[in-house]
Amino acid sequence: MAEVAPIGGLDGAVAVVTGGASGIGAACCGLLEASGASVVVVDRAGEPAVDVTDRAALDRLAAGLGQVDVLINAAGVLTENKPVDELSAEDFRRNFEVNVLGIVSCCQAFASLLRASRGAVVNVASQAALVSLPQQAAYTASKGAVAALTRSLAIDWADRGVRVNAVAPGFTVTPMTEAFFENETFTRAATGRIPLGRLLRADEIAAAIVFLASPLASAITGVVLPVDGGWTAGEPALPW
Ligand SMILES: NC(=O)c1ccc[n+]([C@@H]2O[C@H](COP(=O)([O-])OP(=O)(O)OC[C@H]3O[C@@H](n4cnc5c(N)ncnc54)[C@H](O)[C@@H]3O)[C@@H](O)[C@H]2O)c1
Repeated sequence: MAEVAPIGGLDGAVAVVTGGASGIGAACCGLLEASGASVVVVDRAGEPAVDVTDRAALDRLAAGLGQVDVLINAAGVLTENKPVDELSAEDFRRNFEVNVLGIVSCCQAFASLLRASRGAVVNVASQAALVSLPQQAAYTASKGAVAALTRSLAIDWADRGVRVNAVAPGFTVTPMTEAFFENETFTRAATGRIPLGRLLRADEIAAAIVFLASPLASAITGVVLPVDGGWTAGEPALPW
């Protein structure tokens, strides 16, 4: 993993990171700590385990914290690859329950602390919020909802000084995706479609997330920032 310099303005901050036990969330925790922040992990695989769909547990956690400056919503789930006609209502329900309602619950649970600190929220959407991810209609729809929710939260909370943004990562090597990348044919096709010509690292996504959470982004709210190696900008250059 490449060295990432600490991000300024976060010394002494308290950050809550959902999905912080793995992948992109864990990379955020590392960068936040390197930047002088203290981190509270909210993860069903954490110690203690906290599920973002358990509003009562989130409220108990919030009640025990005196300060929250940053909330990063990185917890997320993906379904098995299936065409849309084979997806069940339960597939959609699960994606929306964790990926969308999980963010709503965390934002609500930590709202008063974020208002008190005039803090910042960063939601992890996906490039699938902007262009379709084949065979993943439930996930894609949930990530589109995360992008829309980010704009709604940004507008509703702007007058309280709380900024809300999202990142839309492209194909990033994490435990969520490593099984895909064991398939060489898939990896070659995906890499060939990425204008930068390579898969992304969790620390590269974390750098954009922690930047948006930091005072360096003090004028930015309501954006959904693609961090995708150029995938949503267009196809790789043609050999003219
Ligand atoms: N890896 C990629 O290519 C990629 C691309 C676009 C977006 N994303 C998004 O990035 C975020 C992080 O994914 P990742 O790739 O780091 O995956 P990951 O599987 O490594 O990490 C996800 C974490 O979320 C936690 N989690 C899942 N459901 C939870 C719940 N109900 N309550 C609490 N914690 C829960 C898991 O325990 C895990 O630690 C997700 O929202 C994902 O959709 C990932």
